[in-house]
Amino acid sequence: MPNTTPRKEIRVNAFAMATPVHHSPGLWRHPDDRSLAYTSLEYWTDLAQILERGKFDALFIADSMASNDVYGGSYHAALKVGAQLPKLDPIVAVSAMARVTTHLGFGITSNALYEPPYPFARRMSTLDHLTKGRIGWNIVTGHTTSGARAVGEKALTPHDQRYDIADEYLDAVYALWEGSWDDDAAVRDREHLVFADPAKIRPIVHRGQHFQVEAIHLAEPSPQRTPVLFQAGASTRGRAFAARHAECIFVSGPSPTVIAPVVADTRRRAAALGRDPREILFFSMATVIVGATEDEARAKLEDYRRYINPEAALILFSGWTGIDFSTWDLDAPIRFDDRAQGLVSALEAFSIADPDRVWTVRELAEHNAIGGRGPVFVGSAEQVADQIEAWVEATDVDGLNLSYAVTPGGFADFGTYVVPELQRRGRFKADYAPGTLREKIYGAGRARLPDTHPAAGFRPGATDGVQRHAV
Ligand SMILES: Cc1cc2nc3c(=O)[nH]c(=O)nc-3n(C[C@H](O)[C@H](O)[C@H](O)COP(=O)(O)O)c2cc1C
Repeated sequence: MPNTTPRKEIRVNAFAMATPVHHSPGLWRHPDDRSLAYTSLEYWTDLAQILERGKFDALFIADSMASNDVYGGSYHAALKVGAQLPKLDPIVAVSAMARVTTHLGFGITSNALYEPPYPFARRMSTLDHLTKGRIGWNIVTGHTTSGARAVGEKALTPHDQRYDIADEYLDAVYALWEGSWDDDAAVRDREHLVFADPAKIRPIVHRGQHFQVEAIHLAEPSPQRTPVLFQAGASTRGRAFAARHAECIFVSGPSPTVIAPVVADTRRRAAALGRDPREILFFSMATVIVGATEDEARAKLEDYRRYINPEAALILFSGWTGIDFSTWDLDAPIRFDDRAQGLVSALEAFSIADPDRVWTVRELAEHNAIGGRGPVFVGSAEQVADQIEAWVEATDVDGLNLSYAVTPGGFADFGTYVVPELQRRGRFKADYAPGTLREKIYGAGRARLPDTHPAAGFRPGATDGVQRHAV
């Protein structure tokens, strides 16, 4: 019997950051690269248009408050090579990008520990209005001491506790987005001179351990209310958090052996919480270098490799793990029993990927020098599509979070070569679906979170009168 199960659609987000070096240090010197234009609005609007031409699902913009000061004990090394330093606020260019596109989604990173929920909730509602419902939020909790100190903490809050605080933050913003206004509260009745019906708008009272809110939400309901929720919890506590809240989950690792168990475990956890595990979409970080022929793609890779900066890759890795690699011998084997309060999974991934291999610091740096911690798929359109399909089969992810060697050329190449090939194979949408970002993911009529999501518990019908959410 032939297998008639429809093959799942492969989705693609572009992965970027408002900084000179995201995941390919040194490549900003390449003549085809426009990274240094990250301070101009045109860079972002051009990028958004390129992505929409390539039918990318969303542009996902990473962010942190870290000043990358682990390597060498100072931010000097990171600043010198532009290793995710400096960096601009990822939110500000979004409304300009929305103006020049119609369908592209925007995943914006914001830390749930570093800004009070009230102003953040309003900013996201504003963007959800201005983009007509194309906003997503990548929920992060910060993993660097420099970021924690920047916002007034004395030290980095312990790993699992950061997720506990984020859980409470989400309760507060869910209440604001979902519970404060009824859908029909803004009546806009010209005849009777009534803008809104106060009886349909209620204050949120959240008295928590970490956050206090007592106010009505200042924004009227936006198309999605709660933005599409992205998260990247990889640790046990992180997966529990993601299984509860996330609709889209980012994973990264150098091989399917790292990713597949995380995907399976998180889907299991979501099912145990009453959510449909297939509705959680996993995006795996990867870089694609593609050309009209395999030779052309390999020549590109060789050319790019002449610009890489392995030391800067180590600077980034030091920031993620909290380990100062500047003091390590480049040819020394890495001890994977090292644990840091930072991004613990980043380092472990390399030992899980290949348990028998002994990685040296130099190898780790070179491996991460193009596109970061994911695989690099190289070849003709057919070859790259084969590699992506095999990766998706082996990991059960739903798509890629596409990193680049050069920007925006890497994204444009993907749209030119790989998307038509995946479409030919029935693995990529022929065109965008109408509606909000959530509707494009889940179908018409699904602009809002489903009743099985914890945010639904904050809707007006779920409680009566004033919303009170004491923690
Ligand atoms: C593709 C991807 C993108 C991420 N982007 C960010 C980011 O922009 N800012 C940030 O602080 N952390 C980011 N992270 C880190 C995650 O939020 C998370 O801390 C990490 O995956 C480790 O999981 P854990 O916190 O459960 O240990 C990202 C992780 C991945 C895999």
